[in-house]
Amino acid sequence: MTREALRAVDATRAFEATRRFDELSLYHVPFDELNGDYHTEAALTQMVASQGRIAIIGPSGSGKSSLISAVLGPFAMDLSEKIVPLRVPVATESDATVTEPGAMARHLVRYVTRWASSERFSPAEREEFRRGVAEVSRRAGDGKSREYHVGLPLWLANVEFARQVQTTGDEYESKASGADAVEYLKRMLALFASHELYAVFVFDDSDTWLRIPDLDRSEVANAFFLRTIRMITKELDAGLVLAVHDDYLGLAGYREASKWLSGEISVPRLIDPRRGIDSILRDRLAVAEIGAPIEDVIEADALGHLAKHYESGKTIRDALRIAQRSLQHAMSDSIDRVTAQLIEQAIVELAERA
Ligand SMILES: Nc1ncnc2c1ncn2[C@@H]1O[C@H](COP(=O)(O)OP(=O)(O)OP(=O)(O)O)[C@@H](O)[C@H]1O
Ligand SMILES: [Mg+2]
Repeated sequence: MTREALRAVDATRAFEATRRFDELSLYHVPFDELNGDYHTEAALTQMVASQGRIAIIGPSGSGKSSLISAVLGPFAMDLSEKIVPLRVPVATESDATVTEPGAMARHLVRYVTRWASSERFSPAEREEFRRGVAEVSRRAGDGKSREYHVGLPLWLANVEFARQVQTTGDEYESKASGADAVEYLKRMLALFASHELYAVFVFDDSDTWLRIPDLDRSEVANAFFLRTIRMITKELDAGLVLAVHDDYLGLAGYREASKWLSGEISVPRLIDPRRGIDSILRDRLAVAEIGAPIEDVIEADALGHLAKHYESGKTIRDALRIAQRSLQHAMSDSIDRVTAQLIEQAIVELAERA
């Protein structure tokens, strides 16, 4: 019987750590719930609601994106409907876009314009958004989900408003190259205000280009904070949620930029790792609609060992990768449940690979 549970977990990839941003919110167990306080989701919700500019700080794999997707995602019912989170990917942008305020403003104008224009998405992309919306409604059951949420294009939420945004964007493009992108961006934000809406720019992948192994990118990172983040915080009437890797905390540019931010939230460590990881894994079984209890998948000792590993300074992503890897070993070794020994084997194996 239990082997079936393992097979189901494997087939649904329920333990897998790499999840697309849009999917993270489905798997997020609030840190406030895990740690029994109000320091994380509640604090971030409150800061976003008061139109803050916030840095989310933590090492890679700690849960920055997961936290952002939960607090600004479809199920964030504690956040005012007036907030329109716009997640702006920058990972694949050129250095100029992230270091030159004008280039960033242009990127934002274009990004928001596209976000408001259904015809600029391919039929496949449009279909995917619709599937996303259907999935969210299904998960919400009879409950409600947000009208505006991170990841959802404007045209799906409000066609008329989207059309106005698009018109402003098209006007910008039709001007000679001298058009001031910051001015157009301000016009767009004024349009949001006229609908009693407030835009929050979300950068959750900025460290992908700032942190390249063996390459000193600190100059780019400093310019990003000192020039671009300065423009966004000082000139725009918009909120900001920025994922910041621990490594930047010592950077002169970040230290200066942090003065223009209204707050910082550090992704917390799990206070009780064993209980926390147990909750996260249980939740994943439930999301994957696996009926079997967690005890049928992973032995108590094994969970304890995994928690110890986390306690040694590892992240939630690390813990999930170990869980997933040891599950695969259990399957191939025809073992009914993940054991402490399999966890240890996965730890050694993944450490060797790193
Ligand atoms: N509170 C949580 N509940 C459930 N899963 C979580 C939680 N926090 C993190 N995770 C999981 O851990 C993994 C890593 O989280 P996430 O991608 O948010 O990290 P990150 O800090 O954004 O890392 P990076 O700096 O590499 O972008 C994801 O698979 C995510 O689903
Ligand atoms: Mg991330």
